[in-house]
Order: sequence, then C-alpha cells, then structure tokens
Amino acid sequence: MSSMTCTALLLAVALVVLVPDVAAQTTTGVIGGPIPAANLPYACNSVEKCCMPTPYTGKPIYQFEYPTDLPMRTRPAAHLVSDDYIEKIKKGYKLLRELPDSDPRSLLNQMNLHCLYCDYSLYYPGWEYALAVHNGWLFLPWHRLFLYFHERIIAKLLDDDTFALPYWAWDDSSDVTPVPDQMPEIYADSSSPLYDPIRNNCSFPPFLADLDTIGGCTNKTADYIRLQNTRLMYTQLVTGAPTTSLFYGLPYRFGDSGGPGPGTLEDFPHGTVHLWVGDPNAPPPYIPFDDMGHFHRTAFDPIFYAHHGNVDRMWTVWETIPGGVRTHPKDPVFLDSQFVFYDENANLVRVNVSQSLDTNKLKYKYQSNPLPWLTNGVQAGKENSIALCYPLSKSGVLSLISNTPKFKKSVVLGATPITFKVNRPKRQKKGTEVLELSGIHIPDDFLQVHWKAYLFFPTANLTNAGTTCPEWAGTFNFIPVVGQPTINPKRVWRMAIGPKLKQIGKDYVDSIVVTIVQESNPIQIITFDKAKIFYDLSPKVSI
Ligand code: C2O
Repeated sequence: MSSMTCTALLLAVALVVLVPDVAAQTTTGVIGGPIPAANLPYACNSVEKCCMPTPYTGKPIYQFEYPTDLPMRTRPAAHLVSDDYIEKIKKGYKLLRELPDSDPRSLLNQMNLHCLYCDYSLYYPGWEYALAVHNGWLFLPWHRLFLYFHERIIAKLLDDDTFALPYWAWDDSSDVTPVPDQMPEIYADSSSPLYDPIRNNCSFPPFLADLDTIGGCTNKTADYIRLQNTRLMYTQLVTGAPTTSLFYGLPYRFGDSGGPGPGTLEDFPHGTVHLWVGDPNAPPPYIPFDDMGHFHRTAFDPIFYAHHGNVDRMWTVWETIPGGVRTHPKDPVFLDSQFVFYDENANLVRVNVSQSLDTNKLKYKYQSNPLPWLTNGVQAGKENSIALCYPLSKSGVLSLISNTPKFKKSVVLGATPITFKVNRPKRQKKGTEVLELSGIHIPDDFLQVHWKAYLFFPTANLTNAGTTCPEWAGTFNFIPVVGQPTINPKRVWRMAIGPKLKQIGKDYVDSIVVTIVQESNPIQIITFDKAKIFYDLSPKVSI
C-alpha cells in the first residue's frame, strides 16, 4: 500500500468521527439553486485543519463592488519582469509570510482558504456534502477572485495599488530566451520568499514545463515537449472547447456531491502543471506531490499564483478565439452563486460569480505574450495539415468501423488500451458535436488518474501515441482529493469531436472509433457506464 493510500485511510477514519458543525452557521440554499456565500470562518469542518482563524477584524461581511479607485493594472509575464519588480514582489511575499497565523491574509491562511473551498471543508445546513469549487463551472470564477484578493492583499502590504501578480507563460513554447515555459527564475531562486522547497526536482530550470505529465521527471526532449505542449494547448482551447459547457465544465448546484466534470482547461493543463511542480518524493509529514500537486497545500507555494495567473489569462484568450460559442454560462444558478473571501484589510467580502466575469471591471489585464498554439504551432490555415500517426485509406476506415465492437456498459479500463465505437447522431447545423463518457468510476480517488482518448488510432499505446498525434482527442486528468474521502461521485468527461473529425479528415463517418490508453501510476481499474455523442448547444441550453 502506498503511503498516500495510508494517509487516505487515516483521513477516512477521521472523517467518520467528525460531524460537520453546521450549527454555528446560518446561510443555506435551495437544492438545485445557486451556492450562497459560506458563513466563513464558522461553516468549516476540515480533516486537514484548514479552517480559518475566527474573525480578525470582527466586522460584518460586505457585498463586493467593482473597484473605482484602483488604477488599471497589467499583470506581467513572469519571465520578463524587471529587477525593480522582482524586488517588489519578493518584499510582498516576505511580508505575507510574516503575517501572524491569526491573520486570515497570511500565506498560510491563503493556503487554508484554498484548501477549504477546493478540498471539501465548507458546510451548509440542508446540504449533505461540502462545497467544492473544482471539477465544474465554479472553477474559473472562484480562482479568478481568489487571485484578485491575493493581489490586493500584497498591494496593501506593499502600500502600492499598482501591484499586479505575474503569470507563468507555460503555454508559450517559443524557443527564445528568457524561456517562457520553464519555471520562472524568480520562483526558482532558493534564497527568495517566492521559493518553495517541496517541489519536483525536475520542475526547475532548465527543464521545460511538461504539460502532459503524471508527475515527476521525464525523458522527453525539449523539442518534443515544445511540440506536445503546443498541440495540446490547441486541442484544449481551440478545437476541443468551442462551447461554454466544454470550457467552463459542468453545472454545479447547491446539494450536489462534488463537481461532476471539469472544463478542458481545468482538467488539463491546469491539473498537469500542478502535478509537474509537486514533489513525487515529498518526505513525511508531507504527502507525495505536495505542495503543488494537492489541493490542501498547493496555495502555500507562491508559484501557485503565477500558475493560476496563466490559467486566468488563458480564460481571457479563449473568449477571443473565433469559432463556436465562447461565452460564459447564462444560467442564474451560475451567475448568482456567491463566494466569501478576505479582502486586503482582512474583512470578509461576498462576491457573486457574475462579478468575476469581466477583468476590465476588476481593473486588470495581461501583458501580451506570443500564443504559438493558437494555430497548432504551424502557419495559420495549415492547422489540419499535420501528418496522422495512423494513416488509413477510406476503405481502411470503413472496415475498422465494422470490425470494432460497440461500446457496451460497463467498459473496464486497466493497463491494456480499450477500443470501441460510438454512433454519431444525425448531423445538425447548430451546436458542436461532443463525445461524452459518463458514469466514470475511479476506485481510489486518493490517487491521480490520467488517460488519453484517440480517434481512429486502434493501436495507440503508451509508446506510439501522444498529444502530438492529430488523432489524440483529449485527456482525462484527475488530481486526487483528500478532504472528503467518503464522497467519490461518478464522473463525466466530454470533448468536442466535430472539429477534431474535420482535422483528421474523417467527418464523413457515421461512427467513431475511440481508443483509450491509461497512464496513471499506479494503473487503476476504471469503469465507464456510458458513451454517447450529442450536440452541445450551451449556453443556450444548459447541460
Ligand atoms: Cu483550486 Cu489550481 O487549484
């Protein structure tokens, strides 16, 4: 049994004895409705001891309003910052680390606040499960607001309202110096307050960020990583996510048991960057993949905020990509959900999701930086000209379809890849054709899971395939949860296949042939209940 599983069991036992203390809190919601503001710091029951200190100022909570007195701030690319900026941000994190544990703004308590929201520790009366902002449509807004207040807190400590957090441009695989997609030097300097010792040795310069990782080191060459990262960004943001639902993730409502399914960006590469930086060999009392690879400790590593700066920036880029319907969910259950944060004065502030959607109103923007993946790393117009890894003639395609078994409940995936076919519905003009695998059961959700899906590549395996193959349709990347081990909901994975079939020249088929290859460590026995293809009409129709 791995030490992670051991920790997990201990936590599971601890949970059974702990009963959520919801008596001290008042907010509640309507089943199926928006998530109301949690009654921080009281509505907390954390097996990981993430609860926040009781009120620092004791002032009542107030409703957030857009800042009118702040200058427009430009968040810089971390690999390009000036010496003055470096001195400033170092001072900021030094001050943040020096705040006492009783101050909800301290770096430790920023870590705790993230742990509460992301690792199942906030309870409401009438809701059996704890709130979880991951694996669904709350992911993007919550993390944007978390960064907003983190930035404001540092600005306050520095007494400088122009302060803006940097972003780590791991999406930019241009072969230039300073290198955008390695860990920015400012986070790698071991004498700096921006450093965290609990990291993967191979995540430091000169290694490039491996966006397709299950953690630890890699033998991939720099050239391969650049190609892989470019192609996977293209799939995750351009062809794979041309709709609201695909990009934001599935709806998550009051009463739900954990986020049902993440959007493409959250899933991968957001999740893989966490795994890449986390230390697979973290010694006790840490657990493997601390700090960055676990929701509990991740926000203690200052690079968390630069990573999420780029996640947030990718959200703003996605909105501007042509093709599909690239806007936020219009459902009031999404727009009216609320979160509570601590502002720069340590007062509690309540923010609606609808207030998170416009960075202009929040008074920040991003320094521009090349986006080579927007055209799949090739000249615009040539995106679909990349040679297939498994070329097939038209008759080869048709005989592959007729020789492939249909998806049958319940398909089991272990170490051996599985291949099945799924029928396409009648072609429609409106919406985007999406492949959905649902009822996904992960036996041990204390362990990561990583598998890739390919279209028309029946021999795909761990050595002959990868994100560089145009047939790669998408990846399921699951980061372990720790906080609420008794809840392990069945999961849903979706990916746009309409644009992908065009890209691989197979839009004429009536059924698709899907191959799934698992590369988790250790391999888990995963079951899938259902596979279907449907047209995603979000945000017109909430799905
Ligand atoms: Cu709540 Cu990247 O994490």
